[in-house]
Amino acid sequence: MRTIAFVTQKGGSGKSTIASSLAIAAAEAGERVFVFDMDPQASLVKWAKVRGDQDVGVAFIEPAKLKAALAQLEKSGMSLVVIDTPAGQSAAAEAAMKRDLVVIPSRPNAFDLWSSEQTRKTARDLKREYVFLLNQCPPAQQSARVEDGVAALEALGGLLNPPLSARVDYQEAARHGLGATEYAPSGPAAAEVRKLWASLKRRLAKAANGRRAA
Ligand SMILES: Nc1ncnc2c1ncn2[C@@H]1O[C@H](COP(=O)(O)OP(=O)(O)OP(=O)(O)O)[C@@H](O)[C@H]1O
Ligand SMILES: [Mg+2]
Repeated sequence: MRTIAFVTQKGGSGKSTIASSLAIAAAEAGERVFVFDMDPQASLVKWAKVRGDQDVGVAFIEPAKLKAALAQLEKSGMSLVVIDTPAGQSAAAEAAMKRDLVVIPSRPNAFDLWSSEQTRKTARDLKREYVFLLNQCPPAQQSARVEDGVAALEALGGLLNPPLSARVDYQEAARHGLGATEYAPSGPAAAEVRKLWASLKRRLAKAANGRRAA
C-alpha cells in the first residue's frame, strides 16, 4: 500500500480538488483507494457525501490516529491512500508528510511559490520524498508566469508533469461529488489527471526503490 499526501502551507492551492480527482483516476486505473481528509474544513468528507457512492472510502482522521488507521487499511487490502491536509503548519500536515510521498501543489504565482519553499523545507527536514505540482495554470501553457513557476520549482526539486490547468471541469466535478475523469471523461482535465496518476505511480515506485536501497 502506498500513500500520497497533498500538503502545502498556502490555502486554496488545490489540495482537495486534486486529491479527489486523483483518487478517482487511480481507482479507475485499478487501485483500491481510500481517502483520508485531515482538514477540519472537511472538504472531502462533504465531497463524499455528495458522491454517495461507497466505491472510494473517505473518512476524517486525526493526526494521532493516522498511523494505526493506515495499518488497518493495509491489512484490508487497500493499495493506495490519498491524504488531504489543511493549509498552514499543523500536526495533521506533519503526520501526513511522514508517509511515502508528499505532493506540494502550487499556483504559478510568487506568493504561492514562496509558500511552497517553506513546505519543501519541512519535508526535507523530515527526510521525506516530495515533489511539486503546478496547479491552476492558464490553459495557454506558454505564459511567462508558468514558465517562471516551472523553473522555480525545478530548481527546488522534482516537478510533476503535467502541470494542471485552471479548468471549470475540476470545479464542476468537485461540486457533483465526482472526479474530473468521471465528470467529463474525454475532456482535457480528465486527460491531465490520468497523466498525473501515471507520473505519480512512477514516483511512488521510485520512492519505494530508494527506500529498499537505503
Ligand atoms: N485546476 C483547477 N482549475 C480550476 N479551479 C481549481 C483548480 N484547482 C483548484 N481550483 C479551485 O480553487 C479553489 C481552491 O481549491 P481547493 O479547495 O482544492 O484548495 P485547497 O488547497 O484544498 O484549499 P484549502 O487550503 O482551503 O484546503 C476551489 O474553488 C477550487 O475549485
Ligand atoms: Mg482543502
